[in-house]
Amino acid sequence: MSVDSMLKAPAIAAGPLTLVHTADEAAGWWRSAVIYQVYPRSFRDLNGDGIGDLAGITAELPQLARLDVDAVWLSPFYRSPQKDAGYDVSDYCDVDPLFGTLADFDAMMAQAARLNLRVIVDLVPNHCSDQHAAFQAALGAPAGSPERDMFIFRDGRGPFGEEPPNNWESHFGGPAWTRISEPDGQPGQWYLHLFDTSQPDFNWDNQAVHDEFERVLRFWLDRGVAGFRVDVAHALVKAPGLPEWGGRADGNSCDGYPGHDAPMFGQPALHDIYRAWRRILAEYGPDRILCAEANVDPLPRLADWVRPDEMHQAFNFPYLHAGLDVHRLRGVITDSLVALDAVGAPSTWVLSNHDVVRHATRFGYDGPAPRDGDGIGTFDRQPDSVLGRKRAAAASMFMLGLPGGAYLYQGEELGLPDGIDIPDSQRQDPTFARTGGERLGRDGCRVPLPWRAAEPHTGFGSGQDPWLPQPASFAELARDVQTEQPTSHLNLYRRMLAMRRQLDLGRGSLAWLENWCSDTSLAYVNGTTLVVMNVGPDPVDLPPGHVLLRSSPESAEQYSASPETYDGGHQLGSGETVWLNLPVG
Ligand code: GLC
Ligand code: CA
Repeated sequence: MSVDSMLKAPAIAAGPLTLVHTADEAAGWWRSAVIYQVYPRSFRDLNGDGIGDLAGITAELPQLARLDVDAVWLSPFYRSPQKDAGYDVSDYCDVDPLFGTLADFDAMMAQAARLNLRVIVDLVPNHCSDQHAAFQAALGAPAGSPERDMFIFRDGRGPFGEEPPNNWESHFGGPAWTRISEPDGQPGQWYLHLFDTSQPDFNWDNQAVHDEFERVLRFWLDRGVAGFRVDVAHALVKAPGLPEWGGRADGNSCDGYPGHDAPMFGQPALHDIYRAWRRILAEYGPDRILCAEANVDPLPRLADWVRPDEMHQAFNFPYLHAGLDVHRLRGVITDSLVALDAVGAPSTWVLSNHDVVRHATRFGYDGPAPRDGDGIGTFDRQPDSVLGRKRAAAASMFMLGLPGGAYLYQGEELGLPDGIDIPDSQRQDPTFARTGGERLGRDGCRVPLPWRAAEPHTGFGSGQDPWLPQPASFAELARDVQTEQPTSHLNLYRRMLAMRRQLDLGRGSLAWLENWCSDTSLAYVNGTTLVVMNVGPDPVDLPPGHVLLRSSPESAEQYSASPETYDGGHQLGSGETVWLNLPVG
């Protein structure tokens, strides 16, 4: 990497370093924050209807405070027909009765404030639900009306308008256009939906759409949220004329990135939208943030999203997709830090979310997971769950040593695997139905959490069956079980997060330790901490230093020993990561 060679740093005892990033001093809690994603329908079901709710989140927030995260991000809980698990919003300023009420939301905010946790909510500005009042009004109004102009309606092609206006495909499979019946009952115009038919795309060329979302931002800011995760932030504006585009809108849901010139992504006019939003957030003080869910490639282009007057953060999907490939990881980390440093923005890191196979399952395969990670079923090659969990711990420990912010997905602190044995009849992701079952979709990573092993549904809820079945292994992975086991995945996360805070790793610097970077291992120095990950089949010798934490502790003693007195082992096993304290002097 050319940039590596430009940034040579002095050698330490363990050999030469390549400096990539110097610790930054800028203010901003998010720059080093660990943000925990709550997927409300699968977090905790307090009223027993089988679906998680806001009261359930309030009840378990102390567990997240105990984990020592800085903030939670909530996936949508707004009014919604739930065709895409809440990413199909019919009222942006109300809570769906499934999850509770606005009063429940306020109670949750109050509890979060008591626990010193910030709350970020999900904003879905690209599309709404077809049940949204604005879309219903558009259906009832004539072609060319202001109501229709809130969305992207076009006449069809072909002699009778029977062909879709262009060849764009939906992210969930099938065409990105659906034809409506006009109010007189005749087949009429088509509307664009990059996702499900029930999710019409807004027309961001229309000022009224801008106004509406500024109102939504203020509504939640007034209720005290710390900011917004912006859903498919790269898609709001479409290229003028909606030119043809070969292939699916996104290239590939789980692994690919949109082409640079995709007409539905990354259009220049997006940036002014986010500048306007940033100005609104700034009215509420310096602590409210915007995080882009923007699938943008190559990495330097992501920097355009987080310039000082735009978003604060963007998800680093190239990092997630680098898996355990050390060359890709090194490339992504270096490129991210260099590109983002250039605009003064922190990087973020992420390994799991509600759209991808959980990393404890992905890493249970040597090589890529079947179906490109687009769900895993009982007929697929099965992952090695023990290996997957071990490697997941190593990968998380590697990630949490990096400077910048980190996003965790609920249940990864328990090392949860994906649900694989989900009957077709219970699969709910629209991807499954829209592809005739060819793509299994994302239900596997959305299975409800296990809290208490001895309770019904492992403590997710005491009433009806959870909306997706929990795998048998969830009992032994339940939070209460792991709390009692000193070397559990959960206790490892607690220690990692506490130590990350204590050592201020999120605010740190990064230099590669060349002698420990190989085809199967990667090592970096952040401040006085040295992080080594070994993904090869054989153990590697450790550099000099005191062991702070290992991802696969053999015994509880290794945890409790202080770094001054314990110099643990001289080797790092296969699929393990270690944090070391550099020898001083
Ligand atoms: C984002 C969400 C995903 C949703 C899609 C459409 O990618 O993360 O869950 O299906 O947007 O809103
Ligand atoms: Ca419920």
